[in-house]
Amino acid sequence: MAVTREPGDRTDAAPDETVQLLMRIRRYNPELRADPWWDEFTVDVEPTDRILDALHEVKWHHDGTLALRRSCAHGICGSDAMLINGVNRLACKVLVKDVMPKVTVEPIRGLTPLKDLIVDMEPFFAGYRSVLPFLINDEGEPDRERKQSPEERERYDDTTKCILCAACTTSCPIFWGDEEYVGPAAIVNAHRFIFDSRDRADRERLKVLSEKTGVFRCRTTFNCTEACPRGIKVTRAIQDVKRAILFDRY
Ligand code: FES
Repeated sequence: MAVTREPGDRTDAAPDETVQLLMRIRRYNPELRADPWWDEFTVDVEPTDRILDALHEVKWHHDGTLALRRSCAHGICGSDAMLINGVNRLACKVLVKDVMPKVTVEPIRGLTPLKDLIVDMEPFFAGYRSVLPFLINDEGEPDRERKQSPEERERYDDTTKCILCAACTTSCPIFWGDEEYVGPAAIVNAHRFIFDSRDRADRERLKVLSEKTGVFRCRTTFNCTEACPRGIKVTRAIQDVKRAILFDRY
């Protein structure tokens, strides 16, 4: 039989034991109030549930007006980046047992909140689009595939892992103060093509990134690397791009 524990009880509950998690969620609804506010919910969950499951518990059983984005629930689509206990994380990748007995959930910073945990992602995607994040090669269709050596592929392997969740960009204090800055995620996706031996548009991308909204806005705080749920070495990718611009070596 399931054992129910109150918030604050011991945190070594069995994986299938029902525990109570106190959730403090930052709310915002411009149709109701001009300013954001905090709501608290106590939800029944299991220690191995994710914070996304706990948010579903709130939405489905406590307050159906709670607004959040999510899709795959498996760390692939990048929809549910949010500030969990003050750190940018994917809600589907954080376990209840790692935050018990309480958790604070807020929208990611630096983008305009639209409702509750949903922010306006357009400035983020505008930065992404500005770096031409796709393969460009106008040399005509080859007869065979464009081959790469393992070393050439390795050069940009890390930056292929981005899922565009915005956790890196919205952890960056430069981006918080300047939405014009393309941000770490855009630079990561530029890196992915700049260092691809099959691509021919590296100079266009480096030109975009050498402008005042580009890579030299980075102050190397490493927040982006710490925030990335895919473990991408974001700061290192940014440094690669800076060096490519400064020393024309790429
Ligand atoms: S819901 Fe897709 S990454 Fe979390």
